[in-house]
Amino acid sequence: MNFLARIRLVAIAVMLFAIAVIAPAVAQKLGPDGAPDPTASVTSERSLLKQMPRAEGRIDIPDTKAGVLIQPAGRSWDYFHEVLLHWSGAIVLLGTIVLLGVAYLIIGKIRIAAGRSGRKVLRFKAFERFSHWLTAASFVVLGLTGLNVTFGKRLLLPVIGPDAFSSVSQWAKYIHNFTSAAFVVGLVLITVIFFKDNLLEKVDIDWVKQGGGFIKSKHAPAGRFNLGEKLVYWLSLAAGVAVSVSGVLLLFPFYGTDIADMQLAQIVHAVVAILFIALILAHIYIGTLGIEGAFEAMGTGEVDLNWAKEHHDLWIARQLASKEGQREPSTTAAE
Ligand code: HEM
Repeated sequence: MNFLARIRLVAIAVMLFAIAVIAPAVAQKLGPDGAPDPTASVTSERSLLKQMPRAEGRIDIPDTKAGVLIQPAGRSWDYFHEVLLHWSGAIVLLGTIVLLGVAYLIIGKIRIAAGRSGRKVLRFKAFERFSHWLTAASFVVLGLTGLNVTFGKRLLLPVIGPDAFSSVSQWAKYIHNFTSAAFVVGLVLITVIFFKDNLLEKVDIDWVKQGGGFIKSKHAPAGRFNLGEKLVYWLSLAAGVAVSVSGVLLLFPFYGTDIADMQLAQIVHAVVAILFIALILAHIYIGTLGIEGAFEAMGTGEVDLNWAKEHHDLWIARQLASKEGQREPSTTAAE
């Protein structure tokens, strides 16, 4: 056998060996139709999921959702909950706090320009204040216990450890579930009580044109509520309905909902809750640090007459006119 013939023989032997070893592996990865063979041990999970993102089969029990083993939307939802929600939520909430801090540094507290008159006017009756504080208190509890679901694993768990975190989270979950009823009652009450005074009026346009009272030299005209307050009312109503409906769907999983509906309910609940908290942070800022004398309206229910004239001139004019003829307006001397 000459030298060339020997080389040819070795080459053929190598090829035969290669076919014998590699071909079964390739055959294991791809089925006869070219798709990956899910039973092949060498098939990587990633390539399998790329080709067949959904793993679903037929089952004997009536619960059809149990037949879905893997579904692509589950991975997108997981990415939303573990990555997108954390980042966007943190940016929105911290961004709002920073913006309010900047507003305070630039505008400061808006004082009662004419100073306090020493006379008080009733702005909110006891039941109106009760409805507001019922909604507000339950909102704060829902916000804190809900944010524990979103951020607790990242922020609280490393600080207090797994045992404490699991009991805190369990209690937070129960508290969140039960406080939701108080929130819904409060939301219905404030929606009904303040509905008429939050309808849009022509004066709201003048309020915007005059800078909404945030330009210090000017006091924009307003009825019982100005356009800013009306926006808070309508946005809170929309957000309140959205978190309540989605929240109830989360409370009773798979009652009339499938996996996709549950994921949608969770996304709506989490996103609206974060935006709602940002809105209410701004509302709290304006009612406390932002405007002198505003908190008293919801605290004691009475505001200073000059405050009322500067922030709600049309409302106080109507109030005083309606009391005229009944001797004194419903004002009381301040202590
Ligand atoms: C009727 C009212 C509400 C109901 C029935 C409700 C119910 C629920 C339920 C069942 C969960 C899921 C908890 C879990 O995954 O273990 C949840 C999560 C959450 N809730 Fe509420 N909730 C309501 C109102 C609110 C309000 C007003 C806020 C905001 C102030 C809020 C903020 C949150 C947040 C931030 C989460 C966590 C979202 C996440 O990261 O998955 N909820 N809620």
